[in-house]
Amino acid sequence: MIKGGVPLRGEVTISGAKNAVLPIMAATLLTDEPCVIRRVPKLSDVEFMGQILTSLGARVGFDGDRLRVQAKKIQGVGDYDLIRKMRGSICIMGPLLGRLRKATVSLPGGCIIGARPIDLHLKGFEALGAKISIEGGYVHAKARRLAGADLFLGGRAGCTVLGTANVMMAAVLAEGVTIIESAACEPEVVDLANFLNSMGARVQGAGSPTMTITGVKKLHGAEHEVIPDRIEAATYAIAAAATNGEVTLLGARADHLHAVLDKLREAGVKVERNGSALTVRRNGRLKPVDITTLPYAGFPTDVQAQMMVLMALTQGISIITERIFEARFMHVSELARLGADIAIEGPSAIVKGGKPLSGAPVMASDLRASAALVIAGLAAHGTTEVKRVYHLDRGYENIDGKLRQLGARIQRAEES
Ligand code: EPZ
Repeated sequence: MIKGGVPLRGEVTISGAKNAVLPIMAATLLTDEPCVIRRVPKLSDVEFMGQILTSLGARVGFDGDRLRVQAKKIQGVGDYDLIRKMRGSICIMGPLLGRLRKATVSLPGGCIIGARPIDLHLKGFEALGAKISIEGGYVHAKARRLAGADLFLGGRAGCTVLGTANVMMAAVLAEGVTIIESAACEPEVVDLANFLNSMGARVQGAGSPTMTITGVKKLHGAEHEVIPDRIEAATYAIAAAATNGEVTLLGARADHLHAVLDKLREAGVKVERNGSALTVRRNGRLKPVDITTLPYAGFPTDVQAQMMVLMALTQGISIITERIFEARFMHVSELARLGADIAIEGPSAIVKGGKPLSGAPVMASDLRASAALVIAGLAAHGTTEVKRVYHLDRGYENIDGKLRQLGARIQRAEES
């Protein structure tokens, strides 16, 4: 339940990145030695990945924001139900293939933002020598030996983040050199590569479209601090601008947010860096901006819904084009219930902004659309009830607590 109209003010600490910690947790399967991961966010997706690792035979222990994992002896079949429920769990396939030369996971369901195929993941595994078969809703990969290969991972949306992560995690224990062309350049891929290298892997070029991985025999345990979550940081930055407040994001990394900060400044939002913190506030009237989501370092698709809310509050016409997923505009119909005037034309949403938003009951659909509805509720006059907030808890640590700390009037209520 959100009572809108209160400018957010104060400081918020950015948690570890969900999309870095999930593949890094999977990477602990590559060694039989203990690993420690720090700055682990308390998220249901992280909890879930812990359960998946446990179901594979690993010992998993959470201690605050530190996670200890030791995959001494593991089996290669992922629990059907667990895996089906979280797409991100597909990234256990690469490490299982690397460690055991075999992996069986349930085909990840599509989700509300699109079909979410894994053809590029499987293309990469086959290039390394794996035989792939799909039966009974499971995908099986088996390799007598994994040999380095030159492979192109580009797809219809440019590249694949978890596909790059998965292939990298199989290649680190393959024999010989693997070159991945059209690799994803996201900071989360770089963070994973850094973790793998601290385990004794030899990954070069992470963060660039060409990665070179020289296989090694064995990997040892390692300790790693996860990067801060750039999408969480962007979400709070936009919430500050949308409510005409002033918020300092502690631990945010501006160097992971160039495209977002550039668009916020173009929209008339002031962003100042001080050390490892960012202070965000409105700087006069907001101006409409056009956005196209692209692979990193372009504008991130995971910030598209949140930015749409800011543009709904901005006098003028903004065009937001989604180039990564085929169905990532579910938030549009819900925002319309708050008074937003947005028309969808193919891959673009045309936002006729400037009408004040007024509170109403809305339904969350996917993680980032839910965050957008919360921002809209914070900016709207009156009360907004967001249903199915479990979507939020997948990717935002203690979002209501952090927002209350910034002065928001937001409470969890029992789902009526
Ligand atoms: C990661 O998903 C993130 N999830 C997503 O964040 C993010 O939106 C996405 O990357 C894009 O940045 C995690 O890291 C856990 P992709 P991923 O493979 O890797 C197509 C969030 O809200 N594709 O980069 O699954 C695919 O259909 C989530 O935190 C193929 O065609 O995304 C999509 O159109 C949502 N074949 C495009 O590529 C494949 O084999 C990008 O997908 C794989 C992907």
